[in-house]
Amino acid sequence: MARVVTNGQSRRDFLAGVGALAGVSLLPLAGCARSDKVRIGFMLPYTGTYAQLGVAIENGFRLALAEQGGRLGGREVEYFKVDDESNPAKATDNANKIINRDKVDVIVGTVHSGVAMGMIKVARETGTLALIPNAGANAATGELCAPNVFRTSFSNWQPTHPLGKVMVDNGHRKAVFITWKYAAGEQALESFAEGYEAAGGSVIKELFVPFPNVEFQALLTEIAALKPDAVASFFAGGGAVKFVKDYAAAGLKDKIPLYGSGFLTEGVLDAQGAAAEGVMTTLHYADSLDNSRNKAFRAAYRENYGLEADVYAVQGYDTGLLLAQALDKAGGDISNRDAIIAAMEGAVIDSPRGRWTMSKAHNPIQDFYLRRVENGDNKVIAVAWKALEDPARGCSM
Ligand code: PHB
Repeated sequence: MARVVTNGQSRRDFLAGVGALAGVSLLPLAGCARSDKVRIGFMLPYTGTYAQLGVAIENGFRLALAEQGGRLGGREVEYFKVDDESNPAKATDNANKIINRDKVDVIVGTVHSGVAMGMIKVARETGTLALIPNAGANAATGELCAPNVFRTSFSNWQPTHPLGKVMVDNGHRKAVFITWKYAAGEQALESFAEGYEAAGGSVIKELFVPFPNVEFQALLTEIAALKPDAVASFFAGGGAVKFVKDYAAAGLKDKIPLYGSGFLTEGVLDAQGAAAEGVMTTLHYADSLDNSRNKAFRAAYRENYGLEADVYAVQGYDTGLLLAQALDKAGGDISNRDAIIAAMEGAVIDSPRGRWTMSKAHNPIQDFYLRRVENGDNKVIAVAWKALEDPARGCSM
């Protein structure tokens, strides 16, 4: 398998390079005109509670391209970056910087659902090809679906859809849901409630913390008083570390089982330590998935970055695979929009998460796994839902 670093750089140099300024190409080829290159813009969080997620996505994307010799459809690649800080108020400006100032051919972004909404607005206005490597905002592949917008991750509806039945099957009929008060948490809750109530459960209380706050104490006291059968949740990144640790420190871990969408324990298990043991989640990936594609991917990621891959790295990687497939089919002609869109619509991605296909609304149709944290690992217990497709409500493409 190709290594990301092929020009004699050490891994340390390479990692420093990853953080370098916008506009710096990692693989310059002498004599190649700037306009010949495929211009890729990363609009991702590199600071704040989701910083680690943004870095993993970029790492995964670059790894996929490195495996194609660093090229797309035979053409060199030039990268541009903007730190969107997971700040929805700056989303339109940041998307404009990448799309209108840097004139990228493809925008790869982002993590936060609210920021994604601003990015999609600019992508729709300009017709720029947009690939969403994380943000689950349902509207992106629902009422705002568009020919030039594709998602390689999940919709917020998907990860918590299988969770309600799992919890009822485990005997928990009264649940509290706790999350950040913004689109991703609200939509995860809505989907959870739909599935949970259909399976015979009832959500007795919805608890919210403003994003990205991590002051959970008052709400944990409230949970203790409510005595639900179980707690379900959506948190991710730095906030997920703090929530899982606080939940255990409040003495709730052994009394009220904790569940969530799998982001709760994704890429953060080392930091959560013993507090995460036993937490059950549903997600479209698990580190220990027993397929050769996953093993090879994890080994290559570890070798190149000195880090363990997680779902965010996989989503970035699959974004690179999708774009590479499409540009190959279009003969490297990034201006051949119809060919690129047709190729993406028909894509089958042989992913570390398992094979997935693109829905009509441009969102992955994929398996969801039930995982349980055991000895610091998200152990796969079962396939919670085979080939789950987002309902794409409001999409009329
Ligand atoms: C989102 O805002 O859509 C989001 C952020 C982090 C996650 C999942 C979803 O881990």
